[in-house]
Amino acid sequence: MNMYDILLKKREGEELSAEEISFFVQGFSRGEIPDYQASAFLMAAFLKGLSSKETVELTQQMLLSGDSLDLSEIEGFKLDKHSTGGVGDKTSLVLAPLLASANVIVPKLSGRGLGHTGGTIDKLESIPGFQTDLPMERFLEQLQKIGFGILGASANLAPADKALYALRDVTATVDHPSLIASSIMSKKLAAGADGILLDVKYGEGAFMKTPEEALLLSKMLVEIGEKSGKKTRALISSMEAPLGKAVGNSLEVREAMDALKGEGPTDLQELCLTLATQGLLMSGQMSEEEKARHLLVEKIRSGAAFEKFLQFVREQGGDLDAMPKEKEAAVFRAPQSGVVRRIHALPVARAALSCGAGRRKKTDAIDPGAGILLHVQEGDRVETGDILAGIYTHREEAVSEAQALLKDSFVIADTVALPSPMIYGTVYYEKGESVFSPMKGKING
Ligand code: URA
Repeated sequence: MNMYDILLKKREGEELSAEEISFFVQGFSRGEIPDYQASAFLMAAFLKGLSSKETVELTQQMLLSGDSLDLSEIEGFKLDKHSTGGVGDKTSLVLAPLLASANVIVPKLSGRGLGHTGGTIDKLESIPGFQTDLPMERFLEQLQKIGFGILGASANLAPADKALYALRDVTATVDHPSLIASSIMSKKLAAGADGILLDVKYGEGAFMKTPEEALLLSKMLVEIGEKSGKKTRALISSMEAPLGKAVGNSLEVREAMDALKGEGPTDLQELCLTLATQGLLMSGQMSEEEKARHLLVEKIRSGAAFEKFLQFVREQGGDLDAMPKEKEAAVFRAPQSGVVRRIHALPVARAALSCGAGRRKKTDAIDPGAGILLHVQEGDRVETGDILAGIYTHREEAVSEAQALLKDSFVIADTVALPSPMIYGTVYYEKGESVFSPMKGKING
């Protein structure tokens, strides 16, 4: 077997065997296949596509290139959650304690933000003292004790994906569903949970621009997970507008805490409850959607979910009382009266980025208190001069840039448009295939 023949075969659109995919991934991981041949492989796969069998095999081989966590000593159903990323997406901070309060164990490995999307690890590190790099034994003890924990993902989970992603980034081969699906799932499978719950975003703030693209990706993700022996479901949700009102690390932590108390923006609460309901059903503890949702609402109402969050912060060394107050440097006001018809996610994300909430390159430092706090959401009525958003930054020069970007974000019109649904549907696995259920999703325990 040699790489030249494999490239030729893929270039001609033929299906590669498991041995050929293994030869490529393992050879590349060992440094025996050079970047130029790996790049050619990626471009051929991008242009000719990968079959479902090839995609599952590519995932498995990337998984085998590194370590996997062994969570077998922890009793109970362990659920991992992954979002394909977005603007103001603080769902994990709500979902993990909420599910843990309902006896679903959530061992979560998360990443940092890059570009316009935020990352859970950056959000948590806005809490003074919070540690995201606990030793594995401590992490396992914590899972046993309080039912969840969130750590930064280690470099040795699916290292082949890391190296291939770096090549994809510079060879215009990132946005292909098979390559994205295998990349995400190789890391999720390595994280060792029994089930994987995916929140696949579509819209201008997401990788997938339309619900149809998100559906295609979701079906692949679910198929890979299930064929690899994990219970897997995906929820498809909108990222046209920011999720909730806070975009920026400590602002988002505060909003997540509000949601855990049953307060704060309703879109965030709804998404978290819908995801958590699916997670609870996946755990097998309950089989009826309404009862599962009711139990979760009760966990919020009783304070149990918020108490879990407080325990988690203490366990990982964080001090919420020491969180500095964010500095509101300026506000953005409504240029006219009317109804907020759209809040475009991308310019809001860029405004938060210019305030210092994210990184333009990996080595940039983050200002934990920086960001944008929306005062309104789509559908709200406003009068000229009303405050639409607060601009939080220590960078004087960022204010005018943020103002200009916020001007592009808001569309105010005379009439209300019917808002597009935030949740498009659920993808689950039945009788050997991925099935789509529009909106709330058919529940099959
Ligand atoms: N996230 C990943 O981990 N990989 C991709 O290819 C895209 C998004």
